[in-house]
Amino acid sequence: MLTLSVIKADVGGYVGHSSMHPDLESKAREELAKAQQSGLLIDFHVTHAGDDLQLIMTHELGEDSTDVHRLAWETFEACTAVAKSLKLYGAGQDLLVDAFSGNVKGQGPGVAEMAFTERPSEPVIVFMADKTAAGAWNLPIYRMFADPFNTAGLVIAPTLQEGFRFEVHDVMENKRIFFDCPEDTYALLAFIGAPARYTLRAVYSRANGEVAAVSSTQRLALIAGRYVGKDDPVCVVRCQGNFPAVGVVLEPFTHPHIVEGWMRGSHCGPLMPCALRDCQPRRFDGPPRVIGAGFQLANGKLVGPVDMFDDPSFDEARHTASMVADYLRRHGPFEPHRLPLAEMEYTTMPQLMKKLADRWESLDGKEARKVEAVKSRRGRY
Ligand code: F6R
Ligand code: MG
Ligand code: MG
Repeated sequence: MLTLSVIKADVGGYVGHSSMHPDLESKAREELAKAQQSGLLIDFHVTHAGDDLQLIMTHELGEDSTDVHRLAWETFEACTAVAKSLKLYGAGQDLLVDAFSGNVKGQGPGVAEMAFTERPSEPVIVFMADKTAAGAWNLPIYRMFADPFNTAGLVIAPTLQEGFRFEVHDVMENKRIFFDCPEDTYALLAFIGAPARYTLRAVYSRANGEVAAVSSTQRLALIAGRYVGKDDPVCVVRCQGNFPAVGVVLEPFTHPHIVEGWMRGSHCGPLMPCALRDCQPRRFDGPPRVIGAGFQLANGKLVGPVDMFDDPSFDEARHTASMVADYLRRHGPFEPHRLPLAEMEYTTMPQLMKKLADRWESLDGKEARKVEAVKSRRGRY
């Protein structure tokens, strides 16, 4: 079995939170090359999405391998040292603990891993986003694997007609549920339509049980208990044959859907698909970006990448994203451009609340009783 591991972290931005200094990528390549020489890795590719360093690695040690996770952690530490020497912004930002303890999950970096037997031809796409949160993949993954208006194969290819199984995580309660589509479609949408809480973790083929897609679902703020930057998630999708074709895996990104993130992780904005060279969120620290690196796997070797959104047919999506960005920006600090209060709890809002706590005066009487009644009704959900 081959394992494809994508492990990422923001260990320092250049300039500010907008992009990555080339020395960080060089350092990461140097570290991973040593691991390849020692036989730990079969192959690797290092890239970045905005200010996030992306380690794409193949090996035979399965998911959650301590050796591979330690390698990623130590690589991020080595890159943090480079970031510190250049005084890059937020050096070591996503390394939330001092010492590695067996697995990078829950320690800051984002992880998407899948183990599978390589097919005679194995096309995969690694999607990487910046300035957004883990739930950003809910809509595009749903469309790839369950929407017949997106994915022609669901309608006309016998290989896809048995549908797909979706693993959804409740990131607040730390539990999971599986939905079998098409029959569970409506229930699936009831949950994943609320991506701040319910995130799509994985998709499996119902024809043969094989893993089709995995995503990183960690929410940095919930791990750290405070705002430390957005999750900037990754997602890996296997394509063709029993899985959706490359073209329909990319198709959902022609609609730059609204995701949370952007400036200070506190706003919503359109997810703009772009070429690797354009993944440098600048306007209002955004708008949020997604890049797609396509590979053919050959006995674990990563043949590629092809820059999947470096294609004029995504120009319209980029244009729409810019127009939506303009429109939303004009709301300034007002909702819904700024995130709803429940989400602001995971930003710097609690500090502001604390600062002003003494200045609030309570209102007595009828109005206050009405508010209490509404609050207790809300508590039921
Ligand atoms: C969003 C992000 C940026 C920063 C912003 C303020 O994920 O990383 O928008 O939140 O630039 O950064 P600090 O507080 O580090 O000055
Ligand atoms: Mg950053
Ligand atoms: Mg980032």
